[in-house]
Amino acid sequence: MDKIQITGGRQLHGKVNISGAKNAALPLIAASILVNGKTCFTNVPDLMDITSIRLLLEDLGATCKASKGYFEVDGASVKKIEAEYDLVRKMRASILVLGPLVARFGHAKVSMPGGCAIGARPVNMHLSGLEALGVSISIEHGYIEAKAGRLIGNEIYFDMPTVTGTENLMMAATLAKGTSILRNTAREPEIIALADALNKMGAKINGAGTAIITIEGVKKLSSVDIKIIPDRIETGTFMVAAAATGGDILIKGCEPHHSGGLINKLKAAGTIITTSTDSIRIVGNKPIKSVDIKTLPYPGFPTDMQAQFMTLMTIANGNSMIHESIFENRFVHANELLRMGADISISSGNIAMVRGVKRLQAAQVMASDLRASASLVIAGLVAEGTTVISRVYHMDRGYEAIEKKLALLGADIERI
Ligand code: EPU
Repeated sequence: MDKIQITGGRQLHGKVNISGAKNAALPLIAASILVNGKTCFTNVPDLMDITSIRLLLEDLGATCKASKGYFEVDGASVKKIEAEYDLVRKMRASILVLGPLVARFGHAKVSMPGGCAIGARPVNMHLSGLEALGVSISIEHGYIEAKAGRLIGNEIYFDMPTVTGTENLMMAATLAKGTSILRNTAREPEIIALADALNKMGAKINGAGTAIITIEGVKKLSSVDIKIIPDRIETGTFMVAAAATGGDILIKGCEPHHSGGLINKLKAAGTIITTSTDSIRIVGNKPIKSVDIKTLPYPGFPTDMQAQFMTLMTIANGNSMIHESIFENRFVHANELLRMGADISISSGNIAMVRGVKRLQAAQVMASDLRASASLVIAGLVAEGTTVISRVYHMDRGYEAIEKKLALLGADIERI
């Protein structure tokens, strides 16, 4: 099994190009099930999660073609309505095929995604939303079975903003009869990207990016070409890596206004940041100042950047309080950071107190989930000695060629 080996101590310098966003690509690819024809995607990242959704769509009968950065799905050949356990268990985002399948075929059977390393992650709001659209839901033998005639538009209120829940319901409601109003929706840039793509296909969606989305149902959607937006979490990960190493890097091909919550905190930590329309320059500044963060739905500080920011705070001057408010178990990386000499205590489950130390020390550590693996890579970049990270398959789910990009910025990093 692959491992990542990093010898710390080098500052990052140079330019890095950002890949397409995993969390935008996955719902967009799932949306291609709604179309009885081809949907073509560009700027698609080369990631394990993209392979997972491809395998799932192919199993449903879709014809897929892929070459570097390009991905094409012909939804005309989709015949099967069952997403099997073996495919869904590899990636929770597989739940995104539920809305499109039941909206197009009136029937879907999708394996219930289990809990995962960062929390229980229920899908109750996806299911109650579909029920509001006239879908009858039953759960048997680990599968969600959804049955309906044509879906019927309705009002749906989410108890809290859910990203894939909003996406699933938005996709389903595009083919419903009548108007749906989704309230307390997630406002992430990936939601806007999905609404823009669906509108290009012929849907009538208004309000994406706000807490109320209105969808006037249409009878069918058409083939289109879609470019995937840049990955704001990959962007953020490079920003924090530059800040932690005291480097000076230019991040190209990104959307700076998608990273406002993080930029605000990095500036407070003393990092110098300048932005243009599609690039961000980060100049690290030592000593790093300690800053408190609380993760929140967009446009708040992203939970997907919490682990990386925690690593930065381990070497800050002072104490930092990190409050994870989205997921109940997203501090597993803290235990690995402790093994590298960090001083972190976790109180009341979701609050971590990080007391800055002078330096981290290299160690053998284990990645527990995607963003935890990124936090350990950043720790390895600043630690004294050679760190070896195992279980990097978590990282390969969501970061395209991260070790190659970091090596080009001057890091001493290799896959072994
Ligand atoms: N929740 C429920 N019931 C539901 C749905 C969600 O209680 O039916 C809860 C969750 O347990 C959580 C909160 O609502 O406490 C928000 O979860 P959300 O549904 O927004 O998360 P998600 O859609 O499953 C997406 C991203 C995650 C990211 C979260 C939060 C994709 C494919 N995944 O997950 O990305 O952390 O939103 O921003 O878009 C990652 O990329 O590493 C990753 C985990």
